[in-house]
Amino acid sequence: MKILILHGVNLNMFGQRDPKHYGTETLEGITSELTRLANELSIAIDSFQTNHEGEMCERIHSAHTDSTQAIVINAGAWTHYSYAIRDALSVLTIPIIEVHMSNVHAREEFRHHSVLSSVVKGQICGFGTQSYLLGLRAAHHAVKHAPA
Ligand code: DQA
Repeated sequence: MKILILHGVNLNMFGQRDPKHYGTETLEGITSELTRLANELSIAIDSFQTNHEGEMCERIHSAHTDSTQAIVINAGAWTHYSYAIRDALSVLTIPIIEVHMSNVHAREEFRHHSVLSSVVKGQICGFGTQSYLLGLRAAHHAVKHAPA
């Protein structure tokens, strides 16, 4: 099983950025926890982070042809306004799980709305690094139990 993990704008700054909301774990630390879980579940993961919206769209486009079976995405602030990323995701027919480290619904009002929510299978937020691990489990389950 092949699952793509996408990290959007500013998420390379985890570990240094706003520890009250994001804790102190770095993106590398999150990736190694995901790799450990992926090995346990026999998943091959590919992780990608960018601060450039067009690059993120292009990585999503390539998921059409590289046999990606599901996506776990934390789009960062793009979650709240990027119709470009929403449209790129909407073309895919594979399960997409939206994750956030913080509980976006308990924060500023602009974070309450996700323009991605109508094209994803579900959203997991508020559990720090666990949001990613739960997201990977949800993606794995969705692929395993997809209707034939
Ligand atoms: C975030 C929440 C977003 O509102 C914010 O812009 C981020 C991180 C999270 O993981 O909690 O960059 O996606």
